Amino acid sequence: MEQIDLAGSFTLPGTSLTVNRMGYGAMQLAGRDGNKLVWGPPRDVDGAIALLRKAVASGVNHIDTSDFYGPHVTNQIIKKALHPYPDDLVIVTKVSVRRGEDGSWIPAFSREELTAAVHDNLRNLGLDVLDVVNLRSMFSIHEPAEGSMEAPLTVLAELQQKGLVRHIGLSNVTPAQIAEARQIAPIVCVQNQYNLAHRTDDALVADLARDGIAYVPFFPLGGFTPLQSTTLSDVATRLGATPMQVALAWLLQRSPNILVIPGTSSIKHLRENLQASMLQIPSELVADLDAIGGNA
Ligand SMILES: NC(=O)c1ccc[n+]([C@@H]2O[C@H](COP(=O)([O-])OP(=O)(O)OC[C@H]3O[C@@H](n4cnc5c(N)ncnc54)[C@H](OP(=O)(O)O)[C@@H]3O)[C@@H](O)[C@H]2O)c1
Repeated sequence: MEQIDLAGSFTLPGTSLTVNRMGYGAMQLAGRDGNKLVWGPPRDVDGAIALLRKAVASGVNHIDTSDFYGPHVTNQIIKKALHPYPDDLVIVTKVSVRRGEDGSWIPAFSREELTAAVHDNLRNLGLDVLDVVNLRSMFSIHEPAEGSMEAPLTVLAELQQKGLVRHIGLSNVTPAQIAEARQIAPIVCVQNQYNLAHRTDDALVADLARDGIAYVPFFPLGGFTPLQSTTLSDVATRLGATPMQVALAWLLQRSPNILVIPGTSSIKHLRENLQASMLQIPSELVADLDAIGGNA
């Protein structure tokens, strides 16, 4: 796959980690077992390995993952595909969730659970130290909800001091939780749900941009419910692009601290997503797209 400019680069604050703004989210590489989502191996493990290698060969140097995808499966596939890792590859993982046998997502915030999660990530990725670990809030599974993150963050900061974790990020969090966390440890990135149709974090994106902190939207394409909008389709037709490419380009144009991690199990979609880095949306069409989220 040809090398293209992946939307410029961004340096995580206070770190030597610089990533291209177009990255890759690995959650879609795990399988599915009936109602159990992100569970077990994918149907085509070799295809998943090939996809990761294509992504990196195309210049992707930011991969988002977690050991609770599969569980363990996604990290093991990343290791098989890419280890020993290129020097510039930044793998970002997340902790504070464990999976029930029924596929459920269970909060795992205790000292023992967080420590085990860091060691699981290290072992399954084949690393001695994790570049970035996001602490995911679980006061409500599907959206940010208030509650103190002090205790688990203190544990993660201790693991950082022990040299197992280089940098810390947060996920599924409120502005108050981010402010609390920044009193405890430097925060390099925030990963929350955000896309054309889900704009709760509009002000937060700008606040973090002022402080140079990366904002990494999860479900950039709508996740398990892909984005669908007549306006999006119309804009895509006018630009000669696909709706998903426009959704990614809109995020990249929205703010320079946004790093995108679209997930796909398809090499065709990977190629389309990477090419979205080069799509420029004229301002009048950005205004049409802004109206989808109702905040124009
Ligand atoms: N912090 C958190 O709580 C959290 C939660 C969810 C996800 N994440 C992270 O965020 C990443 C991105 O989220 P996500 O993967 O759930 O959702 P997403 O990127 O919004 O969307 C993925 C879905 O879009 C499809 N897709 C991808 N590219 C496409 C294209 N060009 N055209 C048409 N369909 C396309 C994929 O299907 P195909 O496989 O068929 O392409 C898949 O069904 C994840 O991989 C994960 O690393 C984090």
